[in-house]
Amino acid sequence: MNSNESVRQIRIFDTTLRDGEQSPGGSMNFAEKLEVAQALTDLGVDIIEAGFPIASPGDFESVREIANTIRGASICGLARCNTADIERAWDALKGAERPRIHVFLATSAIHREFKLRMSQDEIVQRAVQGVELAVGFCDDVEFSPEDAARTEHDFLCRVVEAAINAGATTINIPDTVGYATPREMFERIELLLNRVPNIDRAVLSVHCHDDLGLAVANSLAAVEAGCGQVECTINGIGERAGNCALEEVVMAMKTRREFYHCETGIHSERLVPTSRLVSKITGLEVQRNKSIVGRNAFAHESGIHQDGMLKEKSTYEIMRPQDVGFAKTDLVLGKHSGRAALADRARALGFHISGEQLQLVFENFKALADKKKEIYDGDIVALIQQEISGKIDEAWSLVRFEVASGSNRPPKVSLTLRHDGQEFTREVEQGDGPIDAAFWAVEGITGYQVVCKDYRVRSATLGRDALGEVQLEVEHKGKTFKGLGVSTDTVEATVLAMLNAINRIASADSMTEEPNAV
Ligand code: KIV
Ligand code: ZN
Repeated sequence: MNSNESVRQIRIFDTTLRDGEQSPGGSMNFAEKLEVAQALTDLGVDIIEAGFPIASPGDFESVREIANTIRGASICGLARCNTADIERAWDALKGAERPRIHVFLATSAIHREFKLRMSQDEIVQRAVQGVELAVGFCDDVEFSPEDAARTEHDFLCRVVEAAINAGATTINIPDTVGYATPREMFERIELLLNRVPNIDRAVLSVHCHDDLGLAVANSLAAVEAGCGQVECTINGIGERAGNCALEEVVMAMKTRREFYHCETGIHSERLVPTSRLVSKITGLEVQRNKSIVGRNAFAHESGIHQDGMLKEKSTYEIMRPQDVGFAKTDLVLGKHSGRAALADRARALGFHISGEQLQLVFENFKALADKKKEIYDGDIVALIQQEISGKIDEAWSLVRFEVASGSNRPPKVSLTLRHDGQEFTREVEQGDGPIDAAFWAVEGITGYQVVCKDYRVRSATLGRDALGEVQLEVEHKGKTFKGLGVSTDTVEATVLAMLNAINRIASADSMTEEPNAV
């Protein structure tokens, strides 16, 4: 690149905690959201969309806590264009160092006619009222014409101009249904930049969904056309097929800096730890061959490639694994390692643990070190993850269990749980194996009937003495809940995962309200 050529700074707006959390099965509890918000700050994102405060009391509380505790990044809350949403969003955000209210209203003909039943004039009026109300609370207001990618050009320009006149400082162009192509996205952004007379008073942003697998390409096309902000999520998680993947869009701009002439404030060596953290917390696994953060992203298998790599790395490598945070070593800790070494390793793996949380993880670490000699990164992540995901009201907890099973006999489980200080025991001799029997026993005691949608067991590390990690997804009253359990005994890990899911159901039962369309 010509060194005189100016490099634009692109703002990274992360919506893992809002749009990302809308991934089916990807919901997070309060402590998990705080952990992700902290990791996003360490990663260097400019704006964290922390949630949709009116959606539920749980969403409100987590946005408020993130606003009150996270420093550095702007903290944003989503609101529809109505008074209740905007006031609720402000209530949650007002403790932030840099609060942002994000108001949205659908503008495409299909949404106007079938969802909102509003005319073009009514849409403009509602958008202006919403932005003006938000501006009364906070200087930093973003407006999104939902389904902008399918909105008529003239009408989109009209709404955008009106929103900027009303005080919006960022205009975000969502491809809500992932329908656009890169060239269309480029042309739409170019059109707005050329036709909207006051466009220079706002930052133009893009928000792409991945239904056709084009979210990253469309976001990059928007950047090329002149957008100054990209909305994205870690690992590309999000509604349906997901959103633009942060790690991909950032590394494309960094690796092809001479092409895009752009840079971001992202510390790229935090990408892999953050990706792993989000994957662990949401239970949404990253495919092995996923660009940038997948396990195979830097693995060269073919002999010809390996030969080239040995002679000169740049023959087959366009980025270095360490640039995105693949650690060279899996450091081993053991029973003589102290709290500081554990905290240090946890930090390198993307987790912030201190105080009481560090103490609890340390106790479990010591107990594990008594069972197995060497403790690997995977063990540490599993222990911390269990501690974070258990940070919900522990309505039900495990006291003890026994299991007997074998060829030609029904499995038998005896289980004791604690609830409200009281112990409840049940013996079950039913099911097609010990796991099934454990499910029956937990359901029998707690009274929660669930349908198991997914059950995965994997070892957290190498070796046959490794921690077993059970991740499951259950359905209860039409909603999906995840559960995580960790133990060297897989039946115990199953019971713990089941209780984790049931405790989430119990806490959600008392917290949920669904917002409707407008
Ligand atoms: O996809 C979308 O349109 C959204 C808006 C709320 C920005 O997520
Ligand atoms: Zn979206």
